Amino acid sequence: MNTEKKHILVTGGAGYIGSHTVVALIEKGYTPIIIDDFRNSNKDVILRLEKITNSEIIYFNVACQDTFRLKGVFSQFPIEGIIHFAADKAVGESMEKPLMYFDNNFGSLISMLELAKEFEVKSFVFSSSCTVYGDPKQIPVNEQSPVSYNSPYGFTKKVSEEMIEQFVKSCPIVKATLLRYFNPVGAHESGTIGEEPDGKPNNLLPFITQTAAGVRDELTVFGKDYDTPDGTCIRDYIHVVDLAEAHVAALEMSDSNEVNPKVFNVGTGKGTSVLEMIKAFEKITGKELPYKFGPRRDGDIKEIFANTDKVNKELKWTSRKTIEEAISSSWTFEQYIRELRKEA
Ligand code: UD1
Repeated sequence: MNTEKKHILVTGGAGYIGSHTVVALIEKGYTPIIIDDFRNSNKDVILRLEKITNSEIIYFNVACQDTFRLKGVFSQFPIEGIIHFAADKAVGESMEKPLMYFDNNFGSLISMLELAKEFEVKSFVFSSSCTVYGDPKQIPVNEQSPVSYNSPYGFTKKVSEEMIEQFVKSCPIVKATLLRYFNPVGAHESGTIGEEPDGKPNNLLPFITQTAAGVRDELTVFGKDYDTPDGTCIRDYIHVVDLAEAHVAALEMSDSNEVNPKVFNVGTGKGTSVLEMIKAFEKITGKELPYKFGPRRDGDIKEIFANTDKVNKELKWTSRKTIEEAISSSWTFEQYIRELRKEA
């Protein structure tokens, strides 16, 4: 695919995975166009992206459901692909506000598919999640493993995948790829973009780095009596820079996508326990992490990691970065954010 000046719309492009994907796109010669309403992201990210990439970032502060304004963007730029990240993603919050999740996650997707159809966009890459495997009976999970959900958030991912499957039947010009992410971690090597949760983090690594930075008193390990070697849950932690590259690979493959949509697991294929994460963090940073054991968290599953055969073979993508690199870059990013907030 000749990437010369190809315009790719990135919804949620100022967010955690979106911002790293914007960097990956620019490195490959694409022109990303960010659509973000900044409700869960920071406008500063645009400036930081400009520094990292040494280029001007085109962005629009607009919600995905505002099709009127978005039609203007599509008329202004010849958009050849859409990477659709924008969505709410906190499991706990989705249990409290399911309708907000349905409205935002389905509404945004429907708008984007409408625009893809009207403007004949060739590639559509959708952010899905390993949450669609629910509590799997067999691991590693492959793309044929049974899908289910155990939260309104998980429901939106599963149903969104199905909506895309139905949509492309009526509009086969749009080649879709569904990427099922495992647990994204890490930050860009510059240490200036990364996971920046608003308030108390839900996810493990941001909680660890905030605890080490003194923002939180201690980490609670949710459960120590799981049927795993050390009693704590096991996840497949994938470096966000690797994950970002999978989106570019998906975009390039969609040109010759005879099965539509294609679905891929995007993980490392390796499982790491919560205690292993803590030990690795302590080893890499030389800091002792205060933690205690607490009860299991509702909805947590014992263990999941990916079978990556399909993504390795068909997308020609494989994870390259180690968990140590992810932890070390997250720690650098946490320190950067602390300095920034001190100055503000
Ligand atoms: C969660 C979501 C998943 C979503 C993903 C997005 C659930 C059940 N799943 O994955 O659907 O796609 O985030 O990033 O919420 N842990 C602690 N203490 C903490 C935080 C986490 O022990 O303070 C443990 C958890 O029990 C889990 C592991 O760390 O075993 C990873 O947790 P987390 O980072 O929240 O990711 P998931 O729960 O796997």
